[in-house]
Amino acid sequence: MDLRQMSNSKRVIEKIYMKQMSEPDIKTIEESSAGVYLGKTLVYGLPFFLDISALTSPHIAVIGMTGSGKTFMLKNFIIRNSIYSEPDMLILDFNGEYRSAVQDIGGRIFRLGKDFKINLFEFLDYSQDKAIDSVLEIIESYTKIAKDEAATLHNAISDAINNAEKVNLRAIADRVGRDWPQLKLKLGRLAGSAVFADATSFTISSLFKGATSIDLSGIESDVEKNFISYIFVRLISESLNKEGINQKANKFIILDEAWKSVENIYLSRLFREGRKYGFGIIVASQLVSDINNVILSNSSCVLVFKVQNMDDFRILENTGIASREQILRMPNLDIGECFVYLSFKNENNRLKRFFIKKIDGLPIYSHRIYIGDKMELEISNEKFELATRNIGIGNEAMLRITNFVEENENNIEIAAFLQFLASLGISRAEIVSYLKKMGINDAVIIEAYGRISKTSIEIKE
Ligand SMILES: Nc1ncnc2c1ncn2[C@@H]1O[C@H](COP(=O)(O)OP(=O)(O)O)[C@@H](O)[C@H]1O
Ligand SMILES: [Mg+2]
Repeated sequence: MDLRQMSNSKRVIEKIYMKQMSEPDIKTIEESSAGVYLGKTLVYGLPFFLDISALTSPHIAVIGMTGSGKTFMLKNFIIRNSIYSEPDMLILDFNGEYRSAVQDIGGRIFRLGKDFKINLFEFLDYSQDKAIDSVLEIIESYTKIAKDEAATLHNAISDAINNAEKVNLRAIADRVGRDWPQLKLKLGRLAGSAVFADATSFTISSLFKGATSIDLSGIESDVEKNFISYIFVRLISESLNKEGINQKANKFIILDEAWKSVENIYLSRLFREGRKYGFGIIVASQLVSDINNVILSNSSCVLVFKVQNMDDFRILENTGIASREQILRMPNLDIGECFVYLSFKNENNRLKRFFIKKIDGLPIYSHRIYIGDKMELEISNEKFELATRNIGIGNEAMLRITNFVEENENNIEIAAFLQFLASLGISRAEIVSYLKKMGINDAVIIEAYGRISKTSIEIKE
């Protein structure tokens, strides 16, 4: 893939569409080309742009078996959505799969325990007895606790709550300490850690600034991962009308398999009320039947990748998402192929149920550009392309940069690159800001300029 193709992809698509003028569904394309490009339709090969603003709700449900292409699609959605606009996207990343996509668009990655901490006790629904059990379960996933200790701990937590104290693990360790020194020791070791912090270290509104990924891949216990996703969804749901979350549209919460434990009032509420506050919720799941009715009926875009489950077929048919004929094709879909259902605000004669040949992915995971010599700096093609487009040089100069990268087989020596850019007439200030946009830090740039001036002095001498 070369830079030319990438930077012109939107233009190329427009050209394809001009040629397709005689196709019947051109209106769909025209009116939705404001959205995010996903791929070409199966029958007409028309480019499909997902334009959430034309749909009845901002929510998206993505369904398909493991390996069918859900995460790939979401990563591309995240990147493409940020190329032409500045959305706020919060991603709950269970497995660290979104790290490079989020980095490529200049987003922030928050690692639990490193960049932020949670005090679980602040988020328990104390009206339910189960709440304390779920914390006990998490504590036990870290440290062995005997039966009698567990009972003591349970009581200590209830007492602390009933006394309306500020509850955290440190305080509870102190509470049990007098009679249970061993237990105090165990709890003391956990106190202050990622989820048992003395106080929670972030606010919800701070999470909605550009792309933010909550990277949970470092957490070993699934119980804890699930609990943390539950906490986030609950926090967001509860703070919808409290905290001053910005009102701009194009805000998404992406829950790729991370919402299963959240099968509860909070997720449903997010779906119902999210729209009012400009939130689109995107959930991905292996089974349609995993997704509750509130979610399915509030999603105005449903993407179905390969599925084989009879229950799922039934739900898809009964809800009118897909016809029997369409459902029959679903077990045979290839990786990346999917069925699309859309619910438009204004129906007209738009295409609302169709197949996409393949989600057209950006080649960000296979193509990398290395800048530097021994200490290589890996830069994704996508990031390189974005930075290059932003320096505001002409097409001619962009083409020459592309050729330069190709001639060097994606391995660019930084000093040579600086000199090459200067030869195109780009000023030093622009070059520095260009390289910084790619994520190259000051020290590396200064060092490279240092080498250039040294060689030029040597030549003079
Ligand atoms: N549209 C696509 N084009 C190219 N490769 C794809 C596409 N969709 C998925 N893949 C690849 O297939 C594999 C499985 O996709 P993934 O999105 O992780 O599946 P899922 O999330 O549904 O389990 C990944 O290696 C991914 O890169
Ligand atoms: Mg996945």
